[in-house]
Amino acid sequence: MADRSGPRIEPIADGPLRYRKGTDPEDRGTLKRADGSEIEIRDTALLCRCGASARKPFCDGSHAGTDFTSARIWRPGPGEVMDHVGERITIHDNRRLCAHVEFCVQELPTVFDRGRRPWIDPDGASVEEIVALCDKCPSGALGYTIHGQEAVPRVRPATVIASREGPFFVEGDVTIVDPALPEGAPEEHCTLCRCGASRNKPLCDGKHWEVGFVDVED
Ligand code: FES
Repeated sequence: MADRSGPRIEPIADGPLRYRKGTDPEDRGTLKRADGSEIEIRDTALLCRCGASARKPFCDGSHAGTDFTSARIWRPGPGEVMDHVGERITIHDNRRLCAHVEFCVQELPTVFDRGRRPWIDPDGASVEEIVALCDKCPSGALGYTIHGQEAVPRVRPATVIASREGPFFVEGDVTIVDPALPEGAPEEHCTLCRCGASRNKPLCDGKHWEVGFVDVED
């Protein structure tokens, strides 16, 4: 993520994410709930990423009483960044970034089908539909090239969203202060683990499904 005057997120070793609002008066950044409502903070907040806080999305210190570790234990292997070349569009799939939010398989199954090999068919829908879907991918795992031109990064307000029972969706000019971000991570958006179980911290790797992460009491 770009290092300008927008908000910053600093993962603290074996602890929460330190979120600081930016200094750009035009866009200091917004923290939001999954329903889109703003979570008011002054300048700084500690955001839970162990999954145990009773005050989510804020840290309440619970990580100290758990075996939470911020260590990144995932070791990507070869072939985890794939290009799927179609007649009109090439879809790039970066497995190092995927958070398994599943917008792709749910909303465009003619293109994205986990039961098929290869699982992406770049000719399975119109270019417009594929572009819209790739733009919606919150983790940045999906990208595209049309006629040799890679997608231009979007310009969106700096926003961090505590998604429902999933990761933080980070959009816009937000700097992630972590030199260990995987190769190919887009500067404009990513998903940050807040359940504590990801092997690819600070990024989400979809483990929240497996551990049944719950952040709200219904
Ligand atoms: S929120 Fe932790 S793996 Fe997705």
